[in-house]
Amino acid sequence: MRVIALANQKGGCGKTTCATNLAAALATRNNKVLLIDNDPQGHATLAYGFRERDFSLSTYDLYLTSDILVEDAFLEVDRNLHLVPAGIELSAVEQELAREKDKERRLRNNLRRSAMPYDYVLIDCPPSVGLLTFNALLASGEVLIPVDPSYSSLQAVRKMRETLAVLREKSGHDLVPHVVMSDFDTRPLFVRRIMAELDEEFGLELLDTIVHHTVRFREAAGLGQSVIRYDAESRGALDFRDLAREISGQEVDLEVSDLGRWETLLHGPRVVTDGLLFEADFPGAKRVAVTGDFCSWSASGLPMSRRTDGVWECRLQLGSGQHQYRYIVDGTWLPDPSNAQTVPNEFGGANSVVVVA
Ligand SMILES: Nc1ncnc2c1ncn2[C@@H]1O[C@H](COP(=O)(O)OP(=O)(O)OP(=O)(O)O)[C@@H](O)[C@H]1O
Ligand SMILES: [Mg+2]
Repeated sequence: MRVIALANQKGGCGKTTCATNLAAALATRNNKVLLIDNDPQGHATLAYGFRERDFSLSTYDLYLTSDILVEDAFLEVDRNLHLVPAGIELSAVEQELAREKDKERRLRNNLRRSAMPYDYVLIDCPPSVGLLTFNALLASGEVLIPVDPSYSSLQAVRKMRETLAVLREKSGHDLVPHVVMSDFDTRPLFVRRIMAELDEEFGLELLDTIVHHTVRFREAAGLGQSVIRYDAESRGALDFRDLAREISGQEVDLEVSDLGRWETLLHGPRVVTDGLLFEADFPGAKRVAVTGDFCSWSASGLPMSRRTDGVWECRLQLGSGQHQYRYIVDGTWLPDPSNAQTVPNEFGGANSVVVVA
């Protein structure tokens, strides 16, 4: 699964147009795709034809309640394409979480608990670098930065680079950036100059695909459809099919360790320097332990300690190979809710599985 935030603090540079149409193009390539509308303007929700009366759960609930997961909140847009919608209520998140610890990781923590049977998750961000965008960036392994042909947009991409550097420094979270030229009419001389500057400054991150300027995007969004559905042969649809092909074909940089970390976070325990880190998100529990084949399924299990963010953790050094485990939460045996990999056990339930390389 690849999680890609669409972010750029400059307003109107094409984030939502890219998010909604790229999601649709990836879905037509037979990928299972989730788009999370992470903008209180709710433009992605509108662009897929939903109004506030069409949903009761939204991205707001992913931030503020621990028991509402993606599988409770999504709307079906099309075959292979789901949306978690958003509306103006999302603007209250910043204030409501003001005093909360770990408020920048709310979305990521929710996605870790959700089932997430997706190949791609896209997160459409608002035009600012506030709490909502930080949550999206910390939940993502990649960021797609649309840039329209203006010098202020170019400046905003530089700012985004600084933001990514701050994230790397302060949270150890590394994202792979992609810059995409969006809303480009490539004929005027000044646009060609901007293209040359982009190439020089962001050559490595700059995608080959150009999303050209065409009125089809406005028409399609006005009818609540992606351009692919509205006019499959239009220039806009071709551009997004190209973009989906380019994004799908990209080898994700293996040196970026955090992507791997994100994957393992979604699939249970992860490797850290001193062993395997088990993290169990049971904030209301009084005692949590982990048991498994590595301790002969001890009935009391190996105790875990509670962190200030309510997550229980312990580090174990396990031999290489496959291990099965379960959590014991206040006496109840449970599989790991953040690990999709399980095998049936002899009691009719499931054991979680972790493989040590
Ligand atoms: N390639 C394009 N050709 C023509 N119009 C476009 C193109 N891309 C975006 N637009 C139009 O420009 C406007 C802004 O685009 P969009 O909503 O995608 O930007 P945004 O970055 O998401 O904005 P915000 O910062 O407010 O979230 C919309 O009306 C959209 O239809
Ligand atoms: Mg937008």
